Amino acid sequence: MTTRLQNTVALVTGASSGIGEATAVQLAAEGAAVALVARRRDRLEELRARIEKDGGRSLIIEADVTDEQVVRAAVEQTVAEFGRLDTVVANAGVMLLGPIADAPTEEWRRMVELNVLGLLYTAHAALPHLLAAAEQGPRNVADLVLISSVAGRVARLGSGVYNATKHGVGAFAESLRQEVTQRHVRVSLVEPGAVDTELAGHNRPEIQESLRGRFGDVERLHAEDISDAITYIVTRPRRTAVNELLIRPTEQQG
Ligand SMILES: NC(=O)c1ccc[n+]([C@@H]2O[C@H](COP(=O)([O-])OP(=O)(O)OC[C@H]3O[C@@H](n4cnc5c(N)ncnc54)[C@H](OP(=O)(O)O)[C@@H]3O)[C@@H](O)[C@H]2O)c1
Repeated sequence: MTTRLQNTVALVTGASSGIGEATAVQLAAEGAAVALVARRRDRLEELRARIEKDGGRSLIIEADVTDEQVVRAAVEQTVAEFGRLDTVVANAGVMLLGPIADAPTEEWRRMVELNVLGLLYTAHAALPHLLAAAEQGPRNVADLVLISSVAGRVARLGSGVYNATKHGVGAFAESLRQEVTQRHVRVSLVEPGAVDTELAGHNRPEIQESLRGRFGDVERLHAEDISDAITYIVTRPRRTAVNELLIRPTEQQG
């Protein structure tokens, strides 16, 4: 087992399923102690058992990241428990698609509050600790990985507000990257295409049907394809910052 993240501490939001879960497993296997943040405690407990069985260390934090104070407390709890914070993967997100006209605007609020505000709160709360970690061993560098989407690069019919949230993540990532990169906090943007996770299942039935039509035959990525990319990013030498990674299924055209 390679343990390139030995003696470091990571925090992953949205760790109870999909990309976040796979990422937590992989960072723990690399030797990081991992704070697992999401709302479904039962899923986090299963994940912690899996990580511990493989000899890893983790901490369950049942938290809704749309609440700024809750996010701040999650970060502080991680640092209190593990002593530092080197790697943050701001991954929690929701994708609620459909035409803009007649859309239930409650869906827009859910996406903006989680994909944008939740991610901003996570970054803001973590930043002082990441800056401190970058000044110390073992790596003298720290990582903030922000999970966007192909939807953060290309706007498509029927995903306007999801596009807006993910384009926002991309703009924030580049601005923050310029702010902190000379202090050795690397800000990286990851933009997956279609990944086989629970994400699409939160849509209204008619939207799920149209998504099946759009992506039906495409062999989707596995969550591990994205966690591989995240692990690659956070294990680069101090001199190397992977600013942006766009990863589509081979068969995905748009
Ligand atoms: N799957 C894809 O095709 C795809 C493509 C591009 C980008 N992405 C992005 O990848 C990220 C992860 O998505 P996924 O595909 O892995 O989907 P997923 O399986 O649905 O995972 C979403 C995670 O976010 C958590 N979450 C939701 N609301 C939360 C809240 N208020 N507070 C804390 N955690 C919350 C969920 O846990 P709880 O419900 O337990 O809180 C879950 O762990 C998202 O940002 C998504 O936009 C996914």
